[in-house]
Amino acid sequence: MIDIVKIAESDFEKLIPWIDSERELRQWAAHSLSYPINIEELSKSLKAADTVGFKAMWHDKMVGYADFARVNRKNGTATICRVLVPKEMRGMGIAFEMLRKMCSFAFEELGLRRIDLLVFDFNDSAIKVYKKLGFQQEGKMREWLQLDESENWDVIQMGLLKRDFVCEPKPSKDLG
Ligand SMILES: CC(C)(COP(=O)(O)OP(=O)(O)OC[C@H]1O[C@@H](n2cnc3c(N)ncnc32)[C@H](O)[C@@H]1OP(=O)(O)O)[C@@H](O)C(=O)NCCC(=O)NCCS
Repeated sequence: MIDIVKIAESDFEKLIPWIDSERELRQWAAHSLSYPINIEELSKSLKAADTVGFKAMWHDKMVGYADFARVNRKNGTATICRVLVPKEMRGMGIAFEMLRKMCSFAFEELGLRRIDLLVFDFNDSAIKVYKKLGFQQEGKMREWLQLDESENWDVIQMGLLKRDFVCEPKPSKDLG
């Protein structure tokens, strides 16, 4: 069973080796962090009052990470950012379960009514997870990210309303 717990600074060291190239970093966090990642920068990015990072725990092992940014309880909205599962643990349903619990927390505990996110249009596995949770595509921004002088990436905007949230857990595959 996957649990979500607020991330602590002492966890950041575990997260850093999960990103092994600049391309992977941009796919995960766009230009919000520099490559290679350093702990100070990561820590600073999570200090904003409207941002909260979660780790996914499977028994005693950290197996995922994601954060909420721009949490606005007055408007009932937040943005999911920087969803990450280590390479060797992908395809086991960890992202789905971690995000299912985070969305449940946002809707039930924080009283939010809408969550949004951005995802690069080529990121099929991430898009599949988001759609399974009930997110719908709401727009597309062309050449939103400049990777380098010869490559730009299009990004899809997705949104989830509380009434569309798929909150049932799905049977886990290999995690037990
Ligand atoms: C995107 C990411 C978080 C998904 O994590 P995960 O734990 O592997 O996700 P899940 O196992 O819950 O679900 C992945 C789904 O995509 C499917 N999938 C995997 N590769 C795929 C591909 N190339 N095309 C289509 N679907 C794919 C899996 O089969 C699974 O679907 P299923 O449960 O119906 O079988 C992970 O791949 C990752 O960390 N990527 C790098 C960082 C990143 O891109 N983050 C997203 C930023 S928006």
